[in-house]
Amino acid sequence: MLIGGKFVEAASGKTFPTYNPATGEVLANVPEGDKADIELAVKAARSAFEKPAWRRMTPSERGKLIWRLGDAVEQHADEFAALESLDNGKAVMMARYGDVALVVDMFRYMAGWATKIEGNTIPLSVPYTPGAEYLAYTLREPVGVVGQIIPWNFPLLMAAWKLGPALAAGCTVVLKVAEQTPLTALRLAELINEVGFPEGVVNVVTGFGETAGAALAAHPDVDKVAFTGSTEVGKLIVKAAAGNLKKLTLELGGKSPNVVYKDADLDIAIPGAADAVFFNHGQACCAGTRLFVEKQIFDKVVDGVSDKAKKIKLGPGLDPSTEMGPLVSDEQLNRVCGYLESGRKDGAKALSGGGRHGNKGYFVEPTVLTNVKPEMKVYQEEIFGPVVVAVPFNDPSEIEPAANDTVYGLAAGVWTKDISKAHATAARLRAGTVWVNCYSIFDAALPFGGYKQSGWGREMGHEVLHNYTETKSVCVKIA
Ligand code: NAI
Ligand code: MG
Repeated sequence: MLIGGKFVEAASGKTFPTYNPATGEVLANVPEGDKADIELAVKAARSAFEKPAWRRMTPSERGKLIWRLGDAVEQHADEFAALESLDNGKAVMMARYGDVALVVDMFRYMAGWATKIEGNTIPLSVPYTPGAEYLAYTLREPVGVVGQIIPWNFPLLMAAWKLGPALAAGCTVVLKVAEQTPLTALRLAELINEVGFPEGVVNVVTGFGETAGAALAAHPDVDKVAFTGSTEVGKLIVKAAAGNLKKLTLELGGKSPNVVYKDADLDIAIPGAADAVFFNHGQACCAGTRLFVEKQIFDKVVDGVSDKAKKIKLGPGLDPSTEMGPLVSDEQLNRVCGYLESGRKDGAKALSGGGRHGNKGYFVEPTVLTNVKPEMKVYQEEIFGPVVVAVPFNDPSEIEPAANDTVYGLAAGVWTKDISKAHATAARLRAGTVWVNCYSIFDAALPFGGYKQSGWGREMGHEVLHNYTETKSVCVKIA
């Protein structure tokens, strides 16, 4: 682990294994950080926050360091992709041209912001001091020591989404990576040292959620926590943060609607609807898992999506011909298969897939379920596997209530050639992102986050910088 600029073992000396999900074999053992290590990491981050090396570093220098980190990741892109594929299971080409490319771009985008975090000058009127004149302005200062807790579905990318804005704003960080996928963040930690960040600015702790993660969320000297993961743990973090009222941003689950109108171009809507859910094996918070299709084209679309599902080539991530790898862990395999079982019991029908694939590794068949009812678990809950429920609708007026009938509000998709219908639907969906005639399009400049129980705050874009800065108003009497 990286604490205070040094690579260290856990204080307890304990380690834990990380597995290759394609085979179930142990890949490596990593330090099992817990409360004691979080304590050391927060101390290092606090000390780095106060030292001039970081606190007085010019924004330009800070930006250059972040840019250099992007360059360093790019120079090691193939290595990062291989490592991510081994540890997470995703196809290596996806890791290389999706995850790693976005990571590089994210650091570069945020490098540019370091020099552009500005306040305002504000004309005052102050009714109870007639005749007095003031110069008033706002400063945007780093929020301080930030705890960041990230999941396993896009391990390196989630590290970049979190670190980029925190560093651009001048914060210091304790990053707790997911126990399932610690490897790419540890490699990134080496590059963070190599490019020259002062010691303690970024600390990376490997360990479990209930121990290391919980200690970070509750720590009295942490000013802010940014979390991505399950809604269930998001709620625990809200409680843990209450102790010192630390600031919080949360990026949580989803059960995103994907709406195909009868006037859609089905040559793009059908593969688009398949990718919307099968991308990253369905292990994406924004996955389009509730497919609403207008009645006249329902059979054509669901048959098309299930044909796509049947043709997806499953295999180990490192095999270049693999289109879909295994789920991340045996726990996730069991969770997803449990949902498939509950769907079957409730009367849902699998047009494709419906179960585990093979008996080695954590593979699940890409699955399209029909005959689903709103009260079924498979319809309501986030499955986080390659499973979509398809539902016909008779009239566009049904879409607003049906699509919004969920506790989540992360993302949505709309497929139509009618420009008015596209914008009208986008306006009515309670979701942080709406994609029209595309899906899962991410960009460092485009804010991402959730309505309702999908979270608090936004990541990326300039919006995210508000989460990492405090506004200070300075008021000077000049006459
Ligand atoms: P999780 O929410 O338990 O794990 C995410 C991160 O939180 C990990 O780093 C974990 O160590 C940490 N964590 C766990 N318990 C914690 C606690 N009490 N205090 C502080 N940190 C804690 O998610 P898990 O168990 O891996 O997956 C369960 C479900 O969560 C998935 O099936 C999926 O539905 C959802 N999920 C959503 C993600 C998203 O991108 N929004 C990412 C991962 C999971
Ligand atoms: Mg968990």
